[in-house]
Amino acid sequence: MKKRLGPSPTIFPMPAVLVGTYNDDGTANAMTAAWAAACCHSPPCLGVAVRSTRLTFANIQRQKAFTINVPKTTLAVEVDYLGIVSGARRPDKLEHIDMGTTSGALVDAPLIDVCPVNVECRLFKSLELGTHTWFVGEVMEIHANGELVREDGKIDVPSLDPLAYSTSVGEYWSMGESIGGAYDIGKELKQRK
Ligand SMILES: Cc1cc2nc3c(=O)[nH]c(=O)nc-3n(C[C@H](O)[C@H](O)[C@H](O)COP(=O)(O)O)c2cc1C
Repeated sequence: MKKRLGPSPTIFPMPAVLVGTYNDDGTANAMTAAWAAACCHSPPCLGVAVRSTRLTFANIQRQKAFTINVPKTTLAVEVDYLGIVSGARRPDKLEHIDMGTTSGALVDAPLIDVCPVNVECRLFKSLELGTHTWFVGEVMEIHANGELVREDGKIDVPSLDPLAYSTSVGEYWSMGESIGGAYDIGKELKQRK
C-alpha cells in the first residue's frame, strides 16, 4: 500500500553540482546546488533554483552569468563544505580549500578547475517562485576533461563518476550501472503485438 508523504520538492536522484559566480569585488565563489536540471533543448538551457539569501543569488543577478560545475564523487566533502559555508560570511571560501578557478571563455563566471565538467551559462530568464528563484542559463560552452570524452564526443559516465543527492534523506550517492540505451530498450514493448 502506498503511503502519503505530503508535499515537498523531492525527486530522486538530484545532481549535486557547484554553481560558480563572481562576487562584486571580482573574487570567485561557488555554492552547492541540488535543485538543478536541463530545461530546454534549443536554445540549450540549464536551470538552477537559488534562494534569495545566497551570495550566489546576488552574483547571478549582477553578472547575468553562472557556471554549472560537475564534481566527481571523490569531491563529496568539498561539495558539502561549499553547501554549508557562504561566501558572504567567508570571502576566502574557495581559497580555504585550495580550489582553483579559471575565467569562463564566454561568460563572466568562473570555472571550478577541479570539476571535470564545467558549463558556461548566460542568464536567459529568471522565474521568482517563492523562497527560490529559478535561474535559466543559456549554455554557451561546455568544457570537459579530455580523458572523459569518448570517441563519439559524448561524456563517459563511469569516468565522470558524478555525485547524486537525495533531498528526502539528505545524503550523497554515486551512480550505479547502465541499464540500457534510452529511446531504444523500450522499442521491445512498442513493437509487442
Ligand atoms: C547538498 C546541498 C544542496 C544544496 N542545494 C541548494 C540549491 O539547490 N539551491 C540553493 O539555493 N541552495 C542550496 N544549498 C545551500 C547552499 O549551497 C548554501 O546555502 C551555500 O552556503 C550558499 O553559498 P553562497 O552564499 O556563497 O552562495 C545546498 C546545500 C547542500 C549541502
